[in-house]
Amino acid sequence: MEHRNGVGVSRKKLSGKEKRRGINRIFGVIRIRGLLFLKVLLSNLRFTSALERVWRGRFKRTMSDFLKSDSSFLPTRQWHIISFFYRMVFRGLGFAGFKTTFGRFLAAYEPGNSRLFEALHHLYMSALERRDTWGLLRFMEEPLLGEGDFVVNKGKRLSLDLLQSIDEFYCLQEALNFKKDDSMVFCELGGGYGRFAEIVMAAMPNATYLIFDLPESLILAQYYLSKLHPERKMAFYPESLECVRSREKLSSYRLVFGLPHQLKELPKNYINVFINVYSFMEMGAKQVNGYFDIIEQLQVGALYLKQHKHEINLLDQAVYTDESYPIRPSWRRIYHGTSTLYENVFEAVYLINKT
Ligand SMILES: C[S@@+](CC[C@H](N)C(=O)[O-])C[C@H]1O[C@@H](n2cnc3c(N)ncnc32)[C@H](O)[C@@H]1O
Repeated sequence: MEHRNGVGVSRKKLSGKEKRRGINRIFGVIRIRGLLFLKVLLSNLRFTSALERVWRGRFKRTMSDFLKSDSSFLPTRQWHIISFFYRMVFRGLGFAGFKTTFGRFLAAYEPGNSRLFEALHHLYMSALERRDTWGLLRFMEEPLLGEGDFVVNKGKRLSLDLLQSIDEFYCLQEALNFKKDDSMVFCELGGGYGRFAEIVMAAMPNATYLIFDLPESLILAQYYLSKLHPERKMAFYPESLECVRSREKLSSYRLVFGLPHQLKELPKNYINVFINVYSFMEMGAKQVNGYFDIIEQLQVGALYLKQHKHEINLLDQAVYTDESYPIRPSWRRIYHGTSTLYENVFEAVYLINKT
């Protein structure tokens, strides 16, 4: 419709791509709302309308007046179809549960709708953008390697792994105030496939990252990070057996991969930040105590923990809360808070050794 002064929305001939997107959207709606359509169809098998008489009367009058009005107010094709569906809902179900019948075509999606997955990323990204002082969101995106779930936002692939890693990075950076070019040494126990190492390596060109993990995860992290960055110097296991005792040798690599027992061999006062995310909470109490002893003996600079606030580890007979980890009296907690993404997850940063 063209406005007289030339301003307004004009009818547009849709391109092939736009048509395909429109068709996909319709099929998407049919797919996700198939059960609702069936329910409404079956509910119409009744003999009388589910809508109370008084509302039926009002509706009849409203409809007949509306049809007599100026045709420019009549519904579009899309709303013609939705209105037809609404009338079927009136007849079959009346107002019962209308937020999950009518409401599905208004503003609230059903819990399993993929738009909510997109919305989650958008919200998380918006929250992080306010803290993105190093511009990580502008140049990082989820690598295709590994074929994880992602959404495209502002032309970039975003995933929960990527956003969580950036979130964790800023939690640490804000607490410890290190700079981009600092030659920091990060040591992560239980790094999974290496999502956090990937962010730290990209953000800090002079950093060294050590990953200690169980064999299965260690292999995966070595594959993933070396495939993404073949140009980076990395010490894999078992080659890392040669370098873990020497700070000079360690620092000649950007990434070093080792088994958990090798932690004890690392030089003292060498690691700036020790990291454990979603991992201590899955171990037995004796094992956690053992790792905390090692962290103390290694005289690391700081410890970053991100775990569930309350975790019952049934198989290993352990219960963890954010206050139950064996923190030493001399360690100073400089940050403690709920994670941005999950209400049941805490993050904490402890200063251990200031030198
Ligand atoms: C839930 S995953 C978290 C992975 C990663 N931190 C992340 O958030 O993507 C737990 C990690 O802890 C590691 N892990 C479990 N038990 C361990 C142990 N006893 N010693 C070292 N690492 C362990 C697993 O191999 C895995 O990498």
